[in-house]
Amino acid sequence: MEQQNKTAKIMTIVGARPNFMKAAPILAAIRDHNQSFTTSLGSNGATNSEFKLQSVLVHTGQHYDAAMSDQFFADLNIPKPDVHLGVGSGSHAAQTAEIMKKFEEVLLRERPDLMVVVGDVNSTVACALVAAKISFDVHGSRPMIAHVEAGLRSFDREMPEEVNRILTDHLADLLFVTEESGLKNLRHEGISDEKVHFVGNTMIDSLLTFKDKAFASNILDKLKLRKAAGGNGISAGVERYALLTLHRPSNVDHGATFLNILEGLDELSGSCPIIFPAHPRTQKKLAEFGLERFFTLENGSDPAKKTISAQADGRIRLVEPLGYLDFLCLMGNAAVVVTDSGGIQEETTCLGVPCVTVRENTERPVTVEVGTNVLAGTSKEGIRRATRKQLESKASGGVPNAWDGKSAQRILAAICREIEKKQQLYTTLKAK
Ligand code: UD1
Repeated sequence: MEQQNKTAKIMTIVGARPNFMKAAPILAAIRDHNQSFTTSLGSNGATNSEFKLQSVLVHTGQHYDAAMSDQFFADLNIPKPDVHLGVGSGSHAAQTAEIMKKFEEVLLRERPDLMVVVGDVNSTVACALVAAKISFDVHGSRPMIAHVEAGLRSFDREMPEEVNRILTDHLADLLFVTEESGLKNLRHEGISDEKVHFVGNTMIDSLLTFKDKAFASNILDKLKLRKAAGGNGISAGVERYALLTLHRPSNVDHGATFLNILEGLDELSGSCPIIFPAHPRTQKKLAEFGLERFFTLENGSDPAKKTISAQADGRIRLVEPLGYLDFLCLMGNAAVVVTDSGGIQEETTCLGVPCVTVRENTERPVTVEVGTNVLAGTSKEGIRRATRKQLESKASGGVPNAWDGKSAQRILAAICREIEKKQQLYTTLKAK
């Protein structure tokens, strides 16, 4: 019966689209831990811990459009958030400050033992900073901070995400690393090895969990990318197409750079259709810079939004942002993926699909060393050369260490061990 008193509260923070697929496996691992706890009334097999875990999910509301948030909750079976801060868009300072102000109240009310933040968005650093300075009692106790996807570095401080990563890592008590470069970077910055755990990649946990379901999506039919097979009329086989995503401020917020990238895709768009699910930021910018001529509006693009002119008849097929399953299906079947996203470099590596990254650097070097990624830079010739090379390449690359679908289990096991240690220490302190 004593076991029933051992409880711990874990708060997980999500805010923006790339957080959802990284947090979902951790929330599922907590649910599975509790289920086997109730059935066995003892320690859980995966975590080997006797804690009953209470999970609190906080959504900051950094992303709020249904296509950027709700659809991901549905696709990834994420429970409804317990708390929604409804923060929305703003400048970096305004958004970060608003999250901090609202989150502090929540943290003081909920008083979790540990808080999980994932990735490198503004919500990640804002909540980590609040938790690092909060004090629940006279002993100055505060939640432990666990950072999932720690240690990645592009060494480019002009990227807002790089600033967020560095700060979050230095605030965290537990750092969960996805690839070996992260271990090296954290050591180099003087972060103690004791805090650091090499666990693999929770985003790949999600990919492996949902791959079959994603491949059954009808998005290829919707976008007319299926080939009719032989004479039997059953659709089978997929047209050769490329998939494009662009949303980094450094690529889309400057008209000349954005134009240059689109011109660099001319050879590719001449050889196969390019499907482009465009981020809201990107849609606004391409309308602002008068770049509609490169695009054609597709099934799924929302005429009600009218951000893009309906007369557009270019070679790149623009669609509204897609949900997790539809996008995974498009990625898995593409001849090549061209992107400036961080996560997509990792997902294409795991899927064995050639990837061209339209950036000068990557914080995920394992995708180039082991996986299917090449860095193209942002010059026209660089993009042409890289897409040509990737379309001709037959190599499917390899899968990095520990990207095996079990990362969230490793994370939860480490979290339970740390909470146990901290609770023992706290009991000793109070007894003195
Ligand atoms: C954020 C992350 C970035 C991540 C990206 C994925 C930071 C600093 N950046 O960038 O690391 O790769 O998410 O999408 O946290 N908007 C909408 N609807 C939404 C959300 C945003 O229309 O649901 C529009 C707004 O005009 C907003 C703009 O997109 O101002 C940018 O949104 P924001 O959250 O500030 O940054 P992202 O570019 O999405």
